[in-house]
Amino acid sequence: MAKSAGGQLDTVMQETRLFPPSAEFAKRARIKSMEEYQKLWSDAATDNAAFWAEAASELHWFQPYDTVLEWKEPFAKWFAGGKTNASYNCLDKHLEAGRGKKTAILWEGEPGDSRSLTYEELHREVCKFANVLKGQGIEQGDRVSIYMPMVPELAIAMLACARIGAIHSVIFGGFSAEAIADRNNDAQAKCVITADFGWRRGKILPLKETVDEALAKSPTVKTCIVLERVGATGAASGATGSASAPQSQSTGKASGTLAVHMEHGRDYWWHELMANASADCPATPLDSESPLFILYTSGSTGKPKGILHTTAGYNLFVKKTFEWVFDYRDDDIFWCTADCGWVTGHSYVVYGPLSAGATVVMYEGAPNFPDEGRFWQIVEKYKVTVLYTAPTAIRAFIKWGDRHVKKHDLSSLRLLGTVGEGINPEAWMWYHRVVGGERCPIVDTWWQTETGGIMMSPLPGAIPTKPGSCTKPLPGVVPEIVDELGKPVEPGHGGWLVITKPWPGMLRGIWGDEERYKEVYWSKVPGKYLAGDNARCDSDGYYWIMGRIDDVLNVSGHRLSTIEIESALVSHPAVAEAAAVGRPDELKGEAVAVFVTLREAKPTDELREELKQHVRKEIGALAQPDDIRFTSALPKTRSGKIMRRLLRDIAAGRETVGDTTTLEDYSVLAKIREDEE
Ligand code: WTA
Repeated sequence: MAKSAGGQLDTVMQETRLFPPSAEFAKRARIKSMEEYQKLWSDAATDNAAFWAEAASELHWFQPYDTVLEWKEPFAKWFAGGKTNASYNCLDKHLEAGRGKKTAILWEGEPGDSRSLTYEELHREVCKFANVLKGQGIEQGDRVSIYMPMVPELAIAMLACARIGAIHSVIFGGFSAEAIADRNNDAQAKCVITADFGWRRGKILPLKETVDEALAKSPTVKTCIVLERVGATGAASGATGSASAPQSQSTGKASGTLAVHMEHGRDYWWHELMANASADCPATPLDSESPLFILYTSGSTGKPKGILHTTAGYNLFVKKTFEWVFDYRDDDIFWCTADCGWVTGHSYVVYGPLSAGATVVMYEGAPNFPDEGRFWQIVEKYKVTVLYTAPTAIRAFIKWGDRHVKKHDLSSLRLLGTVGEGINPEAWMWYHRVVGGERCPIVDTWWQTETGGIMMSPLPGAIPTKPGSCTKPLPGVVPEIVDELGKPVEPGHGGWLVITKPWPGMLRGIWGDEERYKEVYWSKVPGKYLAGDNARCDSDGYYWIMGRIDDVLNVSGHRLSTIEIESALVSHPAVAEAAAVGRPDELKGEAVAVFVTLREAKPTDELREELKQHVRKEIGALAQPDDIRFTSALPKTRSGKIMRRLLRDIAAGRETVGDTTTLEDYSVLAKIREDEE
């Protein structure tokens, strides 16, 4: 059975409330009724190729494709023979249609600075930066790592790579030097794009310093391009040290100049290279299956997987899903609060909305800076119409209190969305009531880094919502719930969620590891994509996601592998063995609890703190354990497998036998349970 986060499962199982779209919303919606949705879905399910072929006419084709889908399980080729370009679809296409003056990005910096870029301006910046990359010897197929704050230049860098066929690998700004080096090396990156510093909650993150540390261990990287983000603002005096910097603490430069080390012949300032760059850079016609990006995500083994997405299918899938799910209208102001370091930022800050020609809001900083009303101030300021955020943020807003929300005029909002983890019905109701003023439908979107775009979600003008359910599959997506033998379960029963037909946005592989791709996603249930989630489908055909089937944690909507955390801990000289498990957490969804056995060191509070910092340094702040328990032994099965289910129970306080600070008392229990694991 699926594991339950804080009793969420039980609440979700009993949920019966139904919220149909208002007649007014439905009337103006792209897809206006359940009948319309059902027709679209069954047309797509009946003739997948014809359905996507029709949609594909919305992309620009330098050369038409020969076939819609070539499927040699588990390898898909979508639109083979065709040539297109994602940067062209996001930019040039709108300029050609005379829409160059429309705002593409409304950007808000954390300190309160702001910028806006029209499609014409964004196009110009992207062309210039693409020429900068070319000038640095970056060619089609080369890998470029991007480690930046949420500034327009991050989107510019991504689109510039796409323009010339370079493959970007965006690394979330909270990752450590070690994690950056691992990703650079796995992808054999030639270039890293970063910034001097980043802002986070009023403090400064030393991004370039972290990159320097990573570059010492990244032999393939020849060039580093550095955006002057913080140094240029002259804001040094207000900032003191680093807030949640993943590794090095304060750079101690608060009172002086914000200087960074620039290595001669390797490091270049963004603004200096841009000053001389030509704005003439036609998009390269790229094969449909030309790689667009790699994005690393955690799996159930230690090494992060480089999920590979390619050009045409991904581009089409994120454009269509953006338009359907967010019921896109030309005058929308769309704000997806995700960082581009995650897939949500790739698909619904950059490629989806921009290829639809939308105006997006991009925000650099924390939701509680300078105070807990920041998100609502931004919604009011930019008159955001569609807000897409994460349940973990919603839980924080609930905790901070309604008054921060109510201080602002949120009447511009017409639609709300969530992503990253299940939303418990109480949080859903709060979002509906307090943020949405009971007038905005909520789209709870289920998808993954691997799926490229949204797979299941209500279509807001058509599908009545149930709090806690991602409702139904989008057109072109055919899910099924199976048991451990791969057989479909009885309706209403829980099981593994699989996708039975290829879809254009699907991952094309794991970078450099074909075997792992086959093994992880296609071997346990032959012929079907194994998502890694447990789910249940109710008698109305609504899907309810019930948590992971593997050892992947979901901490604040971010995927973390328990094994990755354990490897980080064991790399500390004091640690003999470690086991990491998730435990329910009111704000983060899941928190990281670890059980550690020591070599010779004494179990002190200082050591506990040191180990937390160690994990932070090895992986990043997001992986820092919340609880560390020292124990003289870990409960194991006879074959030596750590009994994670028992540890999860202990971490969650579900076990009441004995003293939970030591595992000794569980040795008997462990034996009894051995057969279950
Ligand atoms: C979980 C994020 C329940 C799920 C786009 C999935 C969800 C993993 C939902 C992917 C949702 C995402 N309801 N669970 N609406 N959305 N998840 O790759 O476990 O960062 O497998 O992609 O998050 O996380 P990833």
